[in-house]
Amino acid sequence: MNSTGTDFKAAARTHWDAAAQGWDEHTPALHAWLRQTTDAMIAMAGVQPGARVLDVAAGAGDQTLDLAERVGPAGAVVAVDLSPALVALAEQRARRAGFAQVRCCVGDGEALPVESASFDAAVCRLGLMLFPDPLQGLREMHRALRPGGRVCTVVFSAPLRNPCITTLMSTALRHAGLPPRDPATPGGLFSLSRPGQIDGLFHEAGFRDVATTAIDSVFPMPSVDAYLHFIRSSASPILQILAGLGEDRARAAWADIREQLLAFSTPTGWASPSELLLTAARKP
Ligand SMILES: C[S@@+](CC[C@H](N)C(=O)[O-])C[C@H]1O[C@@H](n2cnc3c(N)ncnc32)[C@H](O)[C@@H]1O
Repeated sequence: MNSTGTDFKAAARTHWDAAAQGWDEHTPALHAWLRQTTDAMIAMAGVQPGARVLDVAAGAGDQTLDLAERVGPAGAVVAVDLSPALVALAEQRARRAGFAQVRCCVGDGEALPVESASFDAAVCRLGLMLFPDPLQGLREMHRALRPGGRVCTVVFSAPLRNPCITTLMSTALRHAGLPPRDPATPGGLFSLSRPGQIDGLFHEAGFRDVATTAIDSVFPMPSVDAYLHFIRSSASPILQILAGLGEDRARAAWADIREQLLAFSTPTGWASPSELLLTAARKP
């Protein structure tokens, strides 16, 4: 890995460690938001009872528990994440749920600490777009799978289909005095959102039967302030942009963000429209 990739990951690890507690606290809301998507991801990865499954960029382990439930005690789930703080929380969550078939470890998705051809299925929920080299991440999942093994990833689709994130990013960048970011910049939330882009990477990594499905996935919250609390305590990429601002400038940035997000209020509270891309494939 070049030094830029190393620095990028060191910064990502620091920020995800700092956001870990907030991400963990919001697991029930994330679970509800991603319920349908997670079910589809597990089905598209062909996860069966007794299977060995790799969960890449597993975070605090929400989808890990769904996988453990699906594979049952005869199966195994290995959850890997860059952030030691999140891995510890995933570990706790698996132990509390009594899932002895789950193992959690710290690791880089671009250099997975697992043996080749040792998994029946692999998933990555909302992680791959954050990798500086997502092709290398897919090559690693390909290496970890046995021939015939299946994979499914979830990433954000186009900026216009995820307007709250777009608003957050553009307003945060403006307040930080940074130029608008090209959505295609590697490691960004929308870096894999261009039509056909992720399918091309899957093919290049050696996968076949590649298919991408878009899922509408509205994120409901009781109020704009509840959403802002989630973002302020757990959304590492936004926090990273605002990290260098002093107290006054940060307060002004959050007030501006709140004002703009009020446009997404609904009669019953508040909701963030969102579209996600699920890509499934098979290792020949
Ligand atoms: C948006 S969170 C998603 C977590 C979890 N999959 C979920 O859906 O709740 C993104 C996760 O990607 C992890 N991550 C980012 N870059 C990574 C890398 N290169 N290798 C492994 N994990 C990475 C972060 O630590 C974080 O836990």
